[in-house]
Amino acid sequence: MKIVRTKQELQDVLEPLRQQKKVITLIPTMGALHEGHLSLINFAKPRTDITVCSIFVNPTQFNDPKDLEKYPRPIENDIALLESVACDILFLPEVSEMYPANDTPWHIDLGQLDHIWEGEHRPGHFQGVTQIVYKLFKLVEPDQACFGQKDFQQVMVIQRMVEIKELPVQLLICPTVRSEKGLALSSRNARLSEQGKADALTLSAALRYIKEQIGTKEIPEILEEAKGLIAANPNVELEYLGICETSTLEPVTSLTPNKEYVALIAAWVEKVRLIDNILLSH
Ligand code: PAJ
Repeated sequence: MKIVRTKQELQDVLEPLRQQKKVITLIPTMGALHEGHLSLINFAKPRTDITVCSIFVNPTQFNDPKDLEKYPRPIENDIALLESVACDILFLPEVSEMYPANDTPWHIDLGQLDHIWEGEHRPGHFQGVTQIVYKLFKLVEPDQACFGQKDFQQVMVIQRMVEIKELPVQLLICPTVRSEKGLALSSRNARLSEQGKADALTLSAALRYIKEQIGTKEIPEILEEAKGLIAANPNVELEYLGICETSTLEPVTSLTPNKEYVALIAAWVEKVRLIDNILLSH
């Protein structure tokens, strides 16, 4: 695996590959890699010539400075993991490389997506996400980019940005990788104790309950019961739980046939903020 740290080095590596018309797939990450991240690379491998993984803990998407500070950065382990899945190129820039002093300010109109669910609870978060992903897309010029369904709203936001900026990149969405018991893998899980990990299972259990109950009762009733499951665990503090259409993320109180829905959840366990979601067929 080739490791590059500057924009210039990245161009030097990519330019000959572009000339050879190689298919390039980007997998953007913030590191502290786990099986979820590696699944994106494994998903990309048979669909591409070249995999480029970026590891960059992007300061502009952290609305809580303490969260940014505490974000794990086990870079040696990350490099070994990327080698183990035969990633071709790792882009590992410094903050000053991505955000030079003379950087132009960023704002993109994401409409409602910027104001509901994650947008409501993490103001500015999706501006920061789109800002860095735009920079990475412009630098790498990938044919494809892989994102996890785990961050469902993030995928929608990036898709919107791609449309607004008319970028020639196809997004590949990969299923959420979970622990055996159902906990969605996340870099933030590393901050949970064993008890915390057990408590965090309440999130996926509530989502599974919703999926099972669809069709048996009205949506508001199902949601109330699922919230009751979470309230029964005093170590879990719910931030939001809702059912919405996949295309708009607008919350719904009933389901229409032939439309796609998703249940979204965010909750705190041991001062760690966790998110998860489940697709609901109807
Ligand atoms: P990060 O949280 O490191 O996630 C990088 C990618 O891995 C995202 O597309 C995320 O959805 C995916 N991912 C995380 N956990 C997963 C799991 N359990 N199963 C499947 N995929 C999973 O998301 C970000 O970084 C940043 O916001 C980023 C897009 C890199 C911009 O800074």
